[in-house]
Amino acid sequence: VAQSDGDLRSPICCILGHVDVGKTLLLDKIRQTNVQAGEAGGITQQIGATFFPAEVIEQKTASFSSRDRINVKVPGLLIIDTPGHESFTNLRSRGSSLCNIAVLVVDIMHGLEPQTLESLQLLREQKTSFIVALNKIDRMYGWRAQPNGAFCSSFQAQPAATQSEFATRVADIITQFAEQGLNAELYYENRDKRKVVSLVPVSAVTGEGIPDLLSLLVGLAQKHMAKRLTYQSMPECTVLEVKVTEGAGTTADVVLTNGMLYQGDRIVLCGLDGAIATTVRALWTPQPMRELRVKSEYVHHKSIKAAMGIRISAPNLQKVVPGSRVLVVGPGDSEEAMMEEAMRD
Ligand code: GTP
Ligand code: MG
Ligand code: NA
Repeated sequence: VAQSDGDLRSPICCILGHVDVGKTLLLDKIRQTNVQAGEAGGITQQIGATFFPAEVIEQKTASFSSRDRINVKVPGLLIIDTPGHESFTNLRSRGSSLCNIAVLVVDIMHGLEPQTLESLQLLREQKTSFIVALNKIDRMYGWRAQPNGAFCSSFQAQPAATQSEFATRVADIITQFAEQGLNAELYYENRDKRKVVSLVPVSAVTGEGIPDLLSLLVGLAQKHMAKRLTYQSMPECTVLEVKVTEGAGTTADVVLTNGMLYQGDRIVLCGLDGAIATTVRALWTPQPMRELRVKSEYVHHKSIKAAMGIRISAPNLQKVVPGSRVLVVGPGDSEEAMMEEAMRD
């Protein structure tokens, strides 16, 4: 289907936060996958990308409130998972530079930690709107889980002592945000969502608060629609990783943030020993709700529209530098000029 400027594209949302706050497990809970369990040492070491179609988001937010039921107007959400370990600052920076909106995950038992502050700094530098997920609410003493429910109904079912522990922890976290110069409120008490950061209590283990989190996220995305999410035909694409795929040689995992990619496109990339010009042999995506970085049954495409995480097969990708841009050679473009441009980043 031909696409024109002015259509909406899927917003890109980045998940950021300190190591082990539960970023990957939250996505696992929404996807019904086990990516976190398969990670070496339970530590994320790459940027991930998962596409969530609009229908799935509508279905997963239905229990939030029929009155506030959200009308999803974007094709879906492309969610980027990032590592929280301190040694991966470059990957957090790369992930956050691709996104339109973000979720900053905080462990409610630990409050703000060093990479929370680093992530906040990135979001501020890039002027990215974000919400805060206060994860691991199920770890509070005496918590009675109401699996997959909206937070407010779960909260009402808690013993008084647990409710009061929650209030104390949230007040502490609000103070910690204030120390960073940020006003934060529980989302259901937040009357000025433009100026005050919303805190969404969740559990990646019980699924509580996930309907609330997804509703807020789509609300935030759609608010930014007109400004930043208008589809543009000029392709914009960034390399996440270069890896060997069984039966396909060296492939590149990329995020297409705008425009379209076609099988047969000439592309130019930054390489370790100079620019690389090559031809796209095949384009694959994982199934919806599956992680790009995890081996699965990939779907083959003749063309793909942004925003999407894509695995590209093409000759000579071995020396491509992760993080570099993919330049698509258009009709009338000079490949040589683009090769110079690719090496300037
Ligand atoms: P990195 O990507 O390595 O920074 O970690 P992460 O933020 O993705 O956290 P991860 O999903 O790896 O979870 C870390 C640990 O916390 C795992 O042992 C999870 O089982 C546990 N965990 C995550 N979320 C929750 C939660 O909501 N409740 C409880 N009780 N445990 C959780
Ligand atoms: Mg992780
Ligand atoms: Na982890």
